Amino acid sequence: MRCRKCNETAVINMRQHKLALCGEHYVEWFVAQTDRAIEKYKMFSRDERVLVAVSGGKDSLALWDVLLTLGYQADGLYIGLGINDKAPYSDQSLEKTRAFAAQHAQATLHIVDIADTYGKTIPQIAMEKTRGHGKPCSACGLTKRYVMNRLAAEKDYAVLATGHNLDDEVAVLMQNTLRWQTGYLARQAPVLPSTNPHLAKKVKPFCRFYERETATYALVRGIDYIYEECPHAVGNLTNFYKTLLNQLEGQSPGAKLSFYLEFLRARGEGAFEQFNRVDQLHECEVCGQPTTSPGRCAFCRMWEIGQEGESGRAGERETVVGRLQ
Ligand code: AMP
Ligand code: FES
Ligand code: ZN
Ligand code: ZN
Repeated sequence: MRCRKCNETAVINMRQHKLALCGEHYVEWFVAQTDRAIEKYKMFSRDERVLVAVSGGKDSLALWDVLLTLGYQADGLYIGLGINDKAPYSDQSLEKTRAFAAQHAQATLHIVDIADTYGKTIPQIAMEKTRGHGKPCSACGLTKRYVMNRLAAEKDYAVLATGHNLDDEVAVLMQNTLRWQTGYLARQAPVLPSTNPHLAKKVKPFCRFYERETATYALVRGIDYIYEECPHAVGNLTNFYKTLLNQLEGQSPGAKLSFYLEFLRARGEGAFEQFNRVDQLHECEVCGQPTTSPGRCAFCRMWEIGQEGESGRAGERETVVGRLQ
């Protein structure tokens, strides 16, 4: 397979775009496509400070890399979840993230270690909350969302970017569609505007890239990332849907992309508008972050912060690596 632009050996053939490219032209294409998505969905401008949530995986490190290449003001946030129970997943992902940050001295990496800040790792708190039965994924999701929002608010980032790719988005879309979860469908978008001064705008600049495209970008750019996924995610429902959708894609190239883009078109035309509830937000009485529940937010309740005898704001510990230019 030859590059469409220069006839060199291609590193990737994208059947859905009928496009094969060599390493150099692929990087050029990928960066330009990202910038186009940022503009098309009005994600952010070069004047805004963006906080990229980096997990040490290919998607989020590639995203940070592209945003810096494009000259956006992008800093990183790594959340140390303490998932080292089955495999040294968190330790290794921190190592990869630090190594990337060390090569990009113009950007800052914020690190929030959950055990240092809140006293327990994610597997420990999950074990407690489920009395040893459940998976840590929901405690993990709640904690990650909270820490991302809180750090963005405290450090004045207007925008929070995650590395979700098309495969992630389509798997969630499929799950929500099969159950007609209209409220979730109404809120699934490349951009979620800020609804409160303490909640940054959420953006997913890679939402139109297939997973193999972000992986190819990371490989061609020589980004060292953690290959393994979280050991607790193995065999979960999202991965089951990803496998199903890959079978569909194999038979019908472009099926995933068109499922997603046609959904966005229908959503843009207001198909789900009536299900888009506007939540009444209050300040959590302990940490001050916006919440729908009166009193303490779900995070403070789960971590039992602000119980009788305890006071003060949740979570103040943070490590900063690197510096802003
Ligand atoms: P996941 O939920 O693991 O599929 O990750 C989705 C996105 O969330 C990633 O692309 C990152 O942007 C972000 N993310 C996941 N884990 C972390 C972490 N430990 N620290 C910071 N961001 C994360
Ligand atoms: Fe959170 Fe796996 S449980 S990343
Ligand atoms: Zn080429
Ligand atoms: Zn709270």
